[in-house]
Amino acid sequence: MKGESVTVHRLAKRYGSVTAVEDVSVDVKPGEFLSLLGPSGSGKTTLLMMIAGFELPTAGLVKIGATDITHVAPNKRNVGMVFQKYALFPHMSVNDNVGFPLRMRKMDRAQIQRRVREALAMVQLDAYGSRMPCQLSGGQQQRVALARALVFEPPVLLMDEPLGALDKKLREQLQIEIKTLQQRLGVTVIYVTHDQEEALTMSDRIAVMDSGQIAQIGSPASLYRAPTSPFVAEFIGKMNFLPVEYLGPAKTGPQIRVSNTSTVSVTRSLNGHDMELSPGLSLLAAIRPENISLTARGAGGQDAIAGTVYTSIFLGTHQILLVNIDGSSSPPLHIQMPASRDLSALARGDAVDIVFQTSAIHLFPGRGDGQ
Ligand SMILES: Nc1ncnc2c1ncn2[C@@H]1O[C@H](COP(=O)(O)OP(=O)(O)OP(=O)(O)O)[C@@H](O)[C@H]1O
Ligand SMILES: [Mg+2]
Repeated sequence: MKGESVTVHRLAKRYGSVTAVEDVSVDVKPGEFLSLLGPSGSGKTTLLMMIAGFELPTAGLVKIGATDITHVAPNKRNVGMVFQKYALFPHMSVNDNVGFPLRMRKMDRAQIQRRVREALAMVQLDAYGSRMPCQLSGGQQQRVALARALVFEPPVLLMDEPLGALDKKLREQLQIEIKTLQQRLGVTVIYVTHDQEEALTMSDRIAVMDSGQIAQIGSPASLYRAPTSPFVAEFIGKMNFLPVEYLGPAKTGPQIRVSNTSTVSVTRSLNGHDMELSPGLSLLAAIRPENISLTARGAGGQDAIAGTVYTSIFLGTHQILLVNIDGSSSPPLHIQMPASRDLSALARGDAVDIVFQTSAIHLFPGRGDGQ
């Protein structure tokens, strides 16, 4: 089996006045693992269903390889599909479930038997062929669904929250299994999830969806390091946000006021936003917990921000500290540092210096507080 490219061009779906998917274009490479990540109602399932052929688009087209399949029936698209609910046929044995797509394709019996055996071996269920679905655990049922989706060797596999009904440990185990299998088979996968860790673990690229559109698409690392909007910044990883004021340029970079008493210089400009900065402008600054550190009050240098410890949480390898910026009404900053004796000694009310890694500060237009 070899993966094929999937091309989605200006795809849209409207239900009456509801726009579920709006003008989405994406090229998925052969053998690529693409995740659609986004909050509930952002259009992930609708987009996947149009690629599968279960929903007809209002506008746009879908291609597999060079073939336009926009108006081809689902069972003629040669696409495997796994849903969140196991969707196995309850009255059929595991063997019959997995063999179903092959019987539909009128393959001969000996060949079906061989293919079913291979597919079940692939998901480590060789010994379960004669069981009924109700005699399997959730994880086993989902492996059978995966075997059934792959048994006819489709070049494209679509999955809609396939691990959503499983507990965390099993989910993490199956994430690795699916990823390993996908790489071995070279099949192109489009995978819907609203779990950012799952998307980061499995994907070559992630498309973050917001209100029916792709807010940003890129590798896990590029989305993490260079989000182009507060929405994406917040959706991938943990991010601190604080409203700041632009003061003007300085030798060390643009100066921003973080609180009544503290200013910081930033060594990068606005993330992908082309706008004129004029002194007095309100901006939204964003910084990740691991890009902030703490020192004793007075030891943080020129760009340090005066702060007061709110909570300190010891987590083995690292320490999470919630620290309020003095003279600011923003929620406490979330700071993550390697655990140390000095840090564990910090207690609520201690005065500290907060130091931002200035190259890791993201700036976005607007204050983010509705003003
Ligand atoms: N058959 C339908 N009729 C009307 N509106 C629909 C229909 N199907 C989906 N929608 C709407 O389209 C939008 C996108 O829905 P969709 O199911 O694609 O979201 P999703 O990202 O998969 O969400 P979830 O994470 O909850 O599964 C929602 O506002 C939803 O209410
Ligand atoms: Mg959905």
